[in-house]
Amino acid sequence: MHIIILSTSVRQGRNSHRLSLYFQQFIAERNLATVEIVDLAAYQFPVFDERLQYIEHPTEQMLDYQQKINNADGVILVTPEYNGGYPASLKNAIDLLYKEWQRKPIALATASAGPFGGAQVTTSLVFSLWKIGAWVVPAMFPVPQVQNQYDETGRPADKEATDKRAQKFVSELIWCIQAKEKMSAGE
Ligand SMILES: Cc1cc2nc3c(=O)[nH]c(=O)nc-3n(C[C@H](O)[C@H](O)[C@H](O)COP(=O)(O)O)c2cc1C
Repeated sequence: MHIIILSTSVRQGRNSHRLSLYFQQFIAERNLATVEIVDLAAYQFPVFDERLQYIEHPTEQMLDYQQKINNADGVILVTPEYNGGYPASLKNAIDLLYKEWQRKPIALATASAGPFGGAQVTTSLVFSLWKIGAWVVPAMFPVPQVQNQYDETGRPADKEATDKRAQKFVSELIWCIQAKEKMSAGE
């Protein structure tokens, strides 16, 4: 099983990436799956002007990103909250692909500097992902004051409590991945 963590803040000095680092370590330490961070800050995609399938000469980076989403059995999508919504970098990256998202199990982890943990992002993001045919896992991982909850290496301030929450969250994603595998085998 291969899980990717889609880290979507491209902001200088970003803090939600700490959450991506945390999930990478959490999954790797427990051998739950092979795991990799797909970092939108590393890609620096231009502002969307067409879907990848219709771009005549896609960049190597676009093709690499497409392959990574395609090959993932499941995705932990880590998003910051910007003005009550998800960042433009994420919409850019969602719209670039189409069939790669379909029936893809995706678990949403949201982060904010404020007290609500990015929970307001969920409504709009779930709708966009549903609309494109992804399978949004019914689990939440909101992180308020992310700058205080994790250090720069992804180490949580309260490891025991954070690991307990993460266990439940990641288990839901894995359940959906396995359910999909079983259904696909019977198709
Ligand atoms: C344009 C912008 C808008 C933001 N709006 C909110 C907000 O509505 N609520 C909130 O709690 N934090 C807000 N923040 C703070 C981010 O949630 C905070 O920077 C957090 O660390 C996650 O984003 P980051 O990964 O880019 O750091 C905003 C930050 C930016 C850059």
